[in-house]
Amino acid sequence: MRRAFNSVTQVRAQVLGSRGRGPCSAGAQRLAHSCTALVYRQHGAHADVVRMEELPLPAVGPHSVRLKMLAAPVNPADINMVQGTYPILPPFPAIGGNEGVSEVVEVGSGTTSLSLGDWVIPVDAGFGTWRTEAVCDADELIRVPKDISLLGAATIGVNPCTAYRMLHDFVPLCPGDTVIQNGANSAVGQAVIQIAATMGVKTINVIRDRPNRWNLVEELKSMGADYIVTEEGLQSSEMETMFKDVPKPKLGLNCVGGQSGGLLLSHLDNGATLVTYGGMAKKPLPLPAKFLIFKNITLRGFWMTQWKRNNREDLPRLQSMVSTLSGLVSSGQLSASQCVQVPFSLYRQALEATVSSHQRKHILLM
Ligand SMILES: NC(=O)c1ccc[n+]([C@@H]2O[C@H](COP(=O)([O-])OP(=O)(O)OC[C@H]3O[C@@H](n4cnc5c(N)ncnc54)[C@H](OP(=O)(O)O)[C@@H]3O)[C@@H](O)[C@H]2O)c1
Repeated sequence: MRRAFNSVTQVRAQVLGSRGRGPCSAGAQRLAHSCTALVYRQHGAHADVVRMEELPLPAVGPHSVRLKMLAAPVNPADINMVQGTYPILPPFPAIGGNEGVSEVVEVGSGTTSLSLGDWVIPVDAGFGTWRTEAVCDADELIRVPKDISLLGAATIGVNPCTAYRMLHDFVPLCPGDTVIQNGANSAVGQAVIQIAATMGVKTINVIRDRPNRWNLVEELKSMGADYIVTEEGLQSSEMETMFKDVPKPKLGLNCVGGQSGGLLLSHLDNGATLVTYGGMAKKPLPLPAKFLIFKNITLRGFWMTQWKRNNREDLPRLQSMVSTLSGLVSSGQLSASQCVQVPFSLYRQALEATVSSHQRKHILLM
């Protein structure tokens, strides 16, 4: 399988040729362009290790394309990669960022799957999207329609896909069924609310309390959230009243872990499934035996990266999911989470906000 040039090492290796020949040596590739990228050469706090650098780009080969990056979000997993705590870590020196949308600006002579002007997103994690340009193999990319918003396209490949898979792959859900989730205001949580609403599935959405909570409650309700409770509310009589109106959830989605995840468990229906996909609280899930013995709860995990890798040879399946989600975006049923747009040069602001509480998603504009 051909590889994307997802680290500076790979970019340089490509520029120098496989035997490390310099660009002036016989047989070396023509150095056509350069790009500006957010590079880290060791793991640590983003402020200490991430730097903006100018990098050479290899010339476009027959099966590759050159991309102009348009927009790329800063997700919690990107920060975990920089910190060195994520399960996949690109070799050093690495370029940050896993998702984003770019425009094809040059197409290799043997490439038929993409055309000039197409909008594309990376198939796999670890692409290194925090940069102005990239050269990669065409089969490392899938096309997204250009009739959706730039921010919608930049953020469609990870969080809405995660929400979509979790709502479809674990428990058969019918209209009228209930799903409970914590971290409901996260980008994944907002996508869960909106996709569930299109399925006629009710959502119970758990958020952390905050000074402007009612603004957030209204925002999530406008997306289709049926119930919104704080973590404290999960332990109150509010829940008994709620379960007079809706069935107990067949599916729980755990973004947070720790006590918050434990509280989700206590409200699941008998035989329900709890899917853990995030660990924002950085605390383990408490698991009283009674939930396994008397309620027969199933515990599962989900990782979008692994799903994409498992389905790597079935690109039409991924393309089809992205097309379905793009259709929901076009029809106004799925909107990108409200985000803060940050010029690329002010990247530090975006990275810092992503590690702070109660912050909106930050998107770098290249
Ligand atoms: N497994 C997968 O395939 C997959 C895919 C996508 C995302 N994820 C994971 O899902 C999680 C959310 O990602 P995202 O991009 O949707 O996030 P996001 O939009 O940046 O939102 C972060 C969310 O985490 C909450 N949060 C932050 N710190 C917290 C803490 N200490 N305790 C409880 N909640 C906390 C925030 O709540 P406040 O507003 O209250 O701060 C917010 O709801 C991350 O852990 C990410 O790595 C996993």
